[in-house]
Amino acid sequence: MAYSDKVIDHYENPRNVGAFDKNDPSVATGMVGAPACGDVMKLQLKVGENGIIEDAKFKTYGCGSAIASSSLVTEWVKGKSIDEATSIKNTDIAEELALPPVKIHCSILAEDAIKAAVEDYKSKHKS
Ligand code: FES
Ligand code: FES
Repeated sequence: MAYSDKVIDHYENPRNVGAFDKNDPSVATGMVGAPACGDVMKLQLKVGENGIIEDAKFKTYGCGSAIASSSLVTEWVKGKSIDEATSIKNTDIAEELALPPVKIHCSILAEDAIKAAVEDYKSKHKS
């Protein structure tokens, strides 16, 4: 199967790999797994007082498309509000990376990781 140039670029030069201190109250963590293949993705968002995502980091144990999808979303979420981030759809990710049908679930993993991180943020910041 041929990977698109964008997948290969994000796979070879992944943006924002790593982790923030999970005890930092401004950090929200989303950890999700893909039942189809067992791959796991952890996405962390660093959110400012104003609810704007200042930074993002990921760790993905998985295929090239999952790594590329998570790398891409760490770039996309920066500067967005927590609610705007949840409007990122797996179809946008799949289209940007030109993922073939068998790799669509890899982009769904990235969408789910954003949603899980946002849920974590909201559960920690119930006012
Ligand atoms: Fe092989 Fe996901 S199925 S890495
Ligand atoms: Fe399962 Fe990509 S996340 S093959």
